[in-house]
Amino acid sequence: MSETDQRVWLVVGASLDGIGAAIARAAAAQGDRVVITGVEAEPLSMPEGVAVYHQLDVCDTGAISALASQFSRLDVLVNCAAISRRDLEDDLDVFRQVIDVNLIGNFDVVRHFEAALIAARGVVINIASMYSFFGSPKVPAYGASKAAIHQLTKSLALKYAPHGVRVNAIAPGFVVTEQTKRGRADTVHYDAVISRTPFGRWGQPDDIAGPALFLASEQAEFVTGQTLVVDGGYSIG
Ligand SMILES: NC(=O)c1ccc[n+]([C@@H]2O[C@H](COP(=O)([O-])OP(=O)(O)OC[C@H]3O[C@@H](n4cnc5c(N)ncnc54)[C@H](O)[C@@H]3O)[C@@H](O)[C@H]2O)c1
Repeated sequence: MSETDQRVWLVVGASLDGIGAAIARAAAAQGDRVVITGVEAEPLSMPEGVAVYHQLDVCDTGAISALASQFSRLDVLVNCAAISRRDLEDDLDVFRQVIDVNLIGNFDVVRHFEAALIAARGVVINIASMYSFFGSPKVPAYGASKAAIHQLTKSLALKYAPHGVRVNAIAPGFVVTEQTKRGRADTVHYDAVISRTPFGRWGQPDDIAGPALFLASEQAEFVTGQTLVVDGGYSIG
């Protein structure tokens, strides 16, 4: 396959060996060209098959614009950048920061890559959460941001459908990553997730990669505006 035949992916928030990295690795393994970003200067490790890393703060609109100017086309944009501040989100500054990264940052990235996505008749995959649907007193800002991602996905899908761009989201269940490290240290929470999940375990980042490949593929060409729940059955009980 020549380089020009390769589909181009940008996975925003793939620097910490979490869900973004698993998606990036899976996309590269199917022969696509994958670029990743993270807020850190360097990624924890480069996902196998991925060669290009950009440091990007999704709250820095100028930096997003500069990165977008390097892409004349983009086949798949995955928005994985997010933070949660368990037990600290009652503070107004923290609340604002979480909304800024998780919601406004996501929107701003899509906005800046709009032309490249339209040029490729591309695909956007946002990452929602169980907290798009359920409340939690421990992460009120995170939950509000992820409920908004579920909603924003529909609005963006309507906006871009006339251009042949599909916009969907994945709502993962509870996955073992850096983001959930603090929560997993709370053994009551850790065990409660396992006992409520019919498959009896926390998810792994690779559990989210297959559904992302599906949403990015031609097999999903009539799917838009949807949030695909990938949670081992957590939400059905
Ligand atoms: N782990 C879970 O259980 C779980 C469940 C549901 C949804 N999610 C979502 O999946 C996505 C990936 O999460 P993860 O668990 O792999 O997390 P992670 O902590 O491993 O990775 C988060 C990524 O976001 C990036 N990031 C943080 N702040 C940023 C900023 N200001 N600008 C740009 N990038 C920034 C980090 O650099 C990192 O690459 C997130 O949207 C998260 O909310 C995770």
